[in-house]
Amino acid sequence: MFPTALSRKPPKQVSDPPKGPGAASAAPVFKQATLMSILSLQSLSLDYVEAGSRRKRRVLDNINLHIASDEFVVVIGRSGSGKTSLLNLAAGFTEPSEGRVLVDGREVDGPGADRAVVFQDDALYPWLTAAGNVAFPLKLRKVARAERQRRAEALLAKVGLDGSAHKNIWELSGGMRQRVGIARALASGPRFLLLDEPLGALDALTRSRMQKFLLDVWVESKTGALLITHSLDEALLLATRVVVLAPNPGRVVADIRTEFGRALLGGESVKDIKALSTFKSLHDELTALIHADEEEIAA
Ligand SMILES: Nc1ncnc2c1ncn2[C@@H]1O[C@H](COP(=O)(O)OP(=O)(O)OP(=O)(O)O)[C@@H](O)[C@H]1O
Ligand SMILES: [Mg+2]
Repeated sequence: MFPTALSRKPPKQVSDPPKGPGAASAAPVFKQATLMSILSLQSLSLDYVEAGSRRKRRVLDNINLHIASDEFVVVIGRSGSGKTSLLNLAAGFTEPSEGRVLVDGREVDGPGADRAVVFQDDALYPWLTAAGNVAFPLKLRKVARAERQRRAEALLAKVGLDGSAHKNIWELSGGMRQRVGIARALASGPRFLLLDEPLGALDALTRSRMQKFLLDVWVESKTGALLITHSLDEALLLATRVVVLAPNPGRVVADIRTEFGRALLGGESVKDIKALSTFKSLHDELTALIHADEEEIAA
């Protein structure tokens, strides 16, 4: 059951794509999807077999989540609630025990170019330069060398790394590496970007800058986003929808629309947004929900 106090936002029209500073300056660097896409997780359940006992343990139970390509959906929940398992199912890395994953009504049975994944550990190829990493998926798709070089450099410029195309990976900071990873994920024009705690390893200031950066990229690329985070502030600042997973087994206990990301895109400061009474009350409600049964467990 969704708490009624959290369900107060009217549904946004999916035909009304987000506007923001990035949208106004869109250049044809990101391969933009022209039609609305929907990523659907339908009645998904996942069981893991426990090592040793061979008993099945239900990790995710009856997840129903539909993500449109103009949405920024953030999933939050306690450690072990199944967030990464959920993202792995959406990416097609793991097969569900029950239910289906669909993109635009077509069932997917594995990873695909329509869904790009970014993890906390950037997993860039250390033997390639920044541009080489971004160009790599284009090489796999047999894009001509000059064109992939051009697109890689343009993508790097879009993520603020104009001068770093020829740098080695070990010459880049953590935030720069994550931006290379995101540029690489976007290189083949996915419909959805799936991000598992992509900013988790960054210091507070870099993380804050990267949050705004992610929003700008989302607006400009018109790529639907599914982001996993432990940070409730981050969830509220970025999301058009916040989804809360409760653990044992992982299940959706709230799915709410939020507008703070749009305020951030519109130029409001993080400080002012966090000072809003609506932000504070939603933060309190979600904190209570995320930690609902913790005391019982600890007792
Ligand atoms: N490959 C696996 N085999 C068996 N159990 C697993 C496997 N992967 C995850 N689990 C279990 O499934 C549950 C959910 O794990 P998952 O990694 O999805 O949680 P999470 O919400 O992402 O946690 P965190 O916030 O710590 O990253 C945990 O209890 C975990 O131990
Ligand atoms: Mg995880």
